[in-house]
Amino acid sequence: MTGHSKQTLYACTLQLDDALIAPYGGRLVQAFVPKPDQRELQARLPQLKRVDITARELIDLEMIASGAYSPLTGFMDSRTYRSVLESTVLPGGMPWGLPVTLAVTEETAKSLDVGQGVALYHDNEAVGVMLIADIFAWDTESEERICGEGAGQPSPQIAERKARKSNFLLGGVVSMLIARSSEQRLMKHQWPKDMRYLQAQKQWQKIAAIHLQNPWQRSDEYLLKCALEASDALLLHINTETALEQSGLLSSVLKGASRLLLENYIPSNRVLENPAPDGFFHGSPRAVLQHAILSQNYGCESIFLPAHGGYAGARQEVINLFAAARKHGLTIRCVFLDPTFHCDQCGGIATEKSCPHNAAARTIISETEIAAQLMHGKNLPPTVARPDVARAVARGMANRPDTDGNTGKYLYPHVSEISRDLIESLAGHKAGVLWMTGLSGSGKSTIAHRVQRELLLSGHRVYVLDGDTLRSGLNSDLSFGEEARRENLRRAAEVAKVLVDAGLIVIASFISPFIAERQMVRKIVGAGFFEIYVEATLETCEERDPKGLYKRARAGVIPHFTGISSPYEAPEQTDLRLNTSKLGLEECVGQFHDFIAQSGLLRADNHSHPHALRAEEVGA
Ligand code: ADX
Repeated sequence: MTGHSKQTLYACTLQLDDALIAPYGGRLVQAFVPKPDQRELQARLPQLKRVDITARELIDLEMIASGAYSPLTGFMDSRTYRSVLESTVLPGGMPWGLPVTLAVTEETAKSLDVGQGVALYHDNEAVGVMLIADIFAWDTESEERICGEGAGQPSPQIAERKARKSNFLLGGVVSMLIARSSEQRLMKHQWPKDMRYLQAQKQWQKIAAIHLQNPWQRSDEYLLKCALEASDALLLHINTETALEQSGLLSSVLKGASRLLLENYIPSNRVLENPAPDGFFHGSPRAVLQHAILSQNYGCESIFLPAHGGYAGARQEVINLFAAARKHGLTIRCVFLDPTFHCDQCGGIATEKSCPHNAAARTIISETEIAAQLMHGKNLPPTVARPDVARAVARGMANRPDTDGNTGKYLYPHVSEISRDLIESLAGHKAGVLWMTGLSGSGKSTIAHRVQRELLLSGHRVYVLDGDTLRSGLNSDLSFGEEARRENLRRAAEVAKVLVDAGLIVIASFISPFIAERQMVRKIVGAGFFEIYVEATLETCEERDPKGLYKRARAGVIPHFTGISSPYEAPEQTDLRLNTSKLGLEECVGQFHDFIAQSGLLRADNHSHPHALRAEEVGA
C-alpha cells in the first residue's frame, strides 16, 4: 500500500552522547509519533484497519517505541521469530532471548494484507500504528518449550493467547501514539532515555539491574543490598498487575510482600522500577539474556544474577550466550551471585564467600518448601522473612479464594501480631524443643524432670511433655501400632509447637522409636528443635524395668512393646547422646544442661534473674 509507510512510520534511532554504556546495537530506537504529527495521524486513524492488542502487547509496544528493545523497531516478522526460537539470535547474528510478537485470531489475520498500515488499539483507545510486513502462524509448541526450559510458571501470555485462539502473528515496524491514559497506565515505566537522563542528573555512575522477581525474603533483601552497595541505584523489573491476575494468588501475595520490603527496608530513591515484559522471569538463560539486553538499553552498567534463578544449573550456558553477545555489543557486566543461606553464627544471610562457619550453623530452605509452607497456612520463620513481611504473606494466603490451593477445610490460622522474637525477648530466653528419644526405662523422664527443675529455678519457662501423660489424656485413643505411634508423635509435636509459640522451653520425652517419625517431628516444630538420644542397652532397661512393663511384654501381655516385640531405630546422628548405661544421673543432667546452654536457649543472665524462683516455690 503505497504511501502508508511514509505516513505511518516514525521510527528512528538515536546516537547517544550520554557517556553511558551504549545501547545494544549502538543506537537507541525511538518509535513514538512526534507531537506535531499526532493530530494529523489521529485524523487518519479511522481509515486504517483496527487491530486490538492486549495489555502485555501494549507493554511490548512501549518497550519497542522507547528503545528498551533496541535494536528491534517492531514486532518480529517470521524470519526474526524463527531465528530467535531456533538459534537465540536475530537474523543479523545478534543474540536475542525471547520472541516479541503481536497475536491475532485467524479471522483477523485473514482480513489483513502484508504492506497494509493498521491502527493498534487497547481499551478502545488508539495506541499506535503498524506497517504489516508479515502474517504467519504462531508456534505455540516452540514457545512452550522455551518456557519449559526455565522450569518456571507457564507464561500468562501463552495461556491467554490460547484462550483467545490468537494463533496468528503480525510482524512489522511500529510507531506508538502516547495518549494520556496509556501514559498513566504505564506510568511506572521509566524509558531508557529517562533513565539515562536521570543518571546524568543525579550524577550516578552506575545503575545495576538485578534478575529478581518479587523480592520479599531476607535473602532477596541481602542480594538487593549487595547490589546496591556496589552501585548507585538499582533497576528492578516488576510483574505488572495484568500478568498477576493470571499467574495466581501466590504471585500476587508475594508482590504485596515485596512492596512492603522495598518500601520499608530499601531506600526508595535508589530503586527504579519498570514493568517486566512477558517471559522475563522464566529463569532460562534466554530470559537472563533478554533481561541483560533491556538493562543495557536502560543504561545499566551491570546485571546481578542471583544463584537461585532457574538458570543456576545452566550457568555455563549463560556465560557462553553472553560471550557471543559481547561480540555484538552486549557490554553490560554480569555479576553472578553465590547461593545464600541463613547462618545462625553470622546472625543473618550470608554466602559461602562471606561466611566462615560450618554447615551446622546454616539453614537452607528451598523455594518449594517455602511455597508448601505458605500453601498450608504455616508461619514462616524469621530466618526466611522479616516478621512484618511474613505476616503480610500469611494474611494474603489466608484470604485466598477456594480455587487456589485451599484445602477445602476453610481454616484461617490467625497470624499473631506479636512475633516470636518479642515473646522470647520478654521471657528473657529463647523457646525451643529438646526432644528425648530412647527405650522405655532408658531414663528420659527422670532426666527431663531434673533438668526442668534446674531451669525453672534459674528463671526459665519450661514444660516437660511426656509420652505417658499425653497418652493418658489427649492421646488416650491411640494404641502402640506403627500408625498409632505416628499419630501420637504428630500430635505431640504439634503440642510442642504450640508451647514453643507460647515462649516455652519444651523437654519432650517420647520413645519415638522410628527415624521417619522423628524427622516428621523435627519438621513440624521447625526452628529451635534438638534431638537428644537417651541411650541404654535393652538389658539395662529390662533390668531396671521401673514399671514392670518388660516383664509383662516378655510374658506376651503387652503387644508391640518397643525393644521386645516392636523395633527401636537408634539415631545415627543426633544433637546429643546421653548414655545412661555408662553415666550416672548427675552426669547426664549436667551434660544435658550444658548442651541446652550451648544451644543458646538460656537467659543471658542465667541464675541471676530477679524473677528466678526460689527452690521452695517449685517444691524443690
Ligand atoms: S511412642 O512410641 O509413641 O513414642 P510414648 O513415649 O508415647 O511411645 O509412650 C511410651 C510409654 O507408654 C511407655 O513409657 C510405657 O509406659 C507405655 N507403654 C504402654 N504400652 C507400650 C508399648 N507397647 N510399647 C512402649 N511403651 C508402652
